[in-house]
Amino acid sequence: MITFQRAYMYNTWFALFLLISIFATPVFADSDSGHDETAEKGMDEFFKGASQKNGWSIFYEGMTLQGKRIEIAGGPHWLSMHGGGCASCHGEKGQGGFTPMMCNKKTPPIYLKALMGSEHEHNGMKEKHTPYTIKTIRRALEFSINPAAERLDPCMPKWYLWDDDFRDLLFYLKMIGE
Ligand code: HEC
Repeated sequence: MITFQRAYMYNTWFALFLLISIFATPVFADSDSGHDETAEKGMDEFFKGASQKNGWSIFYEGMTLQGKRIEIAGGPHWLSMHGGGCASCHGEKGQGGFTPMMCNKKTPPIYLKALMGSEHEHNGMKEKHTPYTIKTIRRALEFSINPAAERLDPCMPKWYLWDDDFRDLLFYLKMIGE
């Protein structure tokens, strides 16, 4: 009789454990690094309707095709004074390797292939890094945090982009890496 009760109790606990793991899994799977729904939906879906011209304009000028400055915070003073885009610091092809004025860190490459690959150049040295996803690139731009949850150098400004502008900029970063 006792053994039966025990077995019954264990079964209940086991069922409870199963239930909890089933419900908890999606929560863990969605935690930042690596996984995101954009990867599943496919890059093509994400880039649908992207404007290469607008991406180019943001990349080079920090301005949309309509002539609107992209909102930034932080970064070196000269940038907010005189304007400029990603190319001002990361180079014409997003290849990186420059030490921007008033900064003490070299810029990494930011074309999409480099960001989404697992080997990356940092301060002129090849380094393994957690690959970026579309989601974590956006987080890096807005919050200055890389996929390994480390803070980026304050020389890298924070950039606030509308969804379409972000998509277009990424589309351009994809083009220059090919
Ligand atoms: C004023 C110079 C400057 C400008 C302008 C600039 N960046 Fe950066 N960016 C940096 C520096 C410096 C780093 C390196 C930060 C570090 O290593 O901690 C960096 C890092 C990054 C990273 C992280 C890369 C990695 O390997 O973790 C991304 C992504 C990035 N920049 C994208 C952009 C984009 C997109 C733009 C344009 C919208 C831009 N940056 C404009 C200076 C700049």
